[in-house]
Amino acid sequence: MHDFHRGRRLRRTAAIRDLVRETEVTPKDLIMPYFVVDTDDADFKHPIASMPGQFQLSLPQLERKVASAVATGLRALILFGIPKTKDESGSQGYADNGIVQRAVRAIKERFPALVVITDVCLCEYTSHGHCGLIDDGYVQNDPTLELLAETALSHARAGADMVAPSDMMDGRVAAIRQVLDESGFPELPIMSYAVKYASAFYGPFREAADSAPKFGDRKSYQMDPANEREAMREALADASEGADILMVKPALPYLDIVSMVRRTFDTPVAAYQVSGEYSMIKAAAELGWIDEKKVVMETLTSIKRAGADLILSYFTEDVLKELNW
Ligand code: PBG
Repeated sequence: MHDFHRGRRLRRTAAIRDLVRETEVTPKDLIMPYFVVDTDDADFKHPIASMPGQFQLSLPQLERKVASAVATGLRALILFGIPKTKDESGSQGYADNGIVQRAVRAIKERFPALVVITDVCLCEYTSHGHCGLIDDGYVQNDPTLELLAETALSHARAGADMVAPSDMMDGRVAAIRQVLDESGFPELPIMSYAVKYASAFYGPFREAADSAPKFGDRKSYQMDPANEREAMREALADASEGADILMVKPALPYLDIVSMVRRTFDTPVAAYQVSGEYSMIKAAAELGWIDEKKVVMETLTSIKRAGADLILSYFTEDVLKELNW
């Protein structure tokens, strides 16, 4: 009679289940991504078709959106910029008066306690849509490092609390760390997109950030989804170059990698629930096929259970309202 496990004992009531729950998503874990557009139209608020509920925003519209999110408990955000003009070397990405630099200044002035993180990459700013300089049809690694470091420094000078390089060039964490240290920002943390796969789940983002490559793909710099051991080498490289937080991206299809990075490194681990993960849930919910709120909480809980300390998610605003913290 007693020779089997009665797992149901601890599932009998909601209160008991609450007592023994191992993982909880809290507002403190969540980072909201925003897309800010360099435009003279202060009212600009353009819905992103493939990401229902997400917008490209002018700076004044972004400030309004952030203000209401802060009122519901938002603590951290990450900014992506869409410039007025693009060129071969992505110069608006590191311009002092670039859109991200202006947005950082405006947001930090109004919400000093908010953690403002910036995505450091060139793809939104280059005419060819690649994350680095092009020569001979190939993305050049070493010449790109200087521009990435310059971008990070311009964000630091604007008042960013953290920089997050997402380009996947080799050596960029070291290059950024060196420039920040030499320029008076030795305490500015770097959250590196350390393990970033060449994923089709970024599709909707490329509409949102207008950053699709004009030729070829990103497979010569982002990782092959088939590789696990390589993720270790990437994470180790970034950790040894001085990354303070290691990110894995995308999140849900790569929970094995999140778990491995968590168990191997003692830095905080972040996971990015990317645009395609968001859009799939939205689409199925709009068709009435899944319960959106429950699926969102289940995915975020799973990402935490796998080992993520921080989660970047487009659901952050909705979850904050829902959690009623
Ligand atoms: C820029 C960048 C991308 C994402 C974050 N930073 C796109 C890409 O690498 O093509 C994807 C985020 C998302 O899909 O939500 N390099």
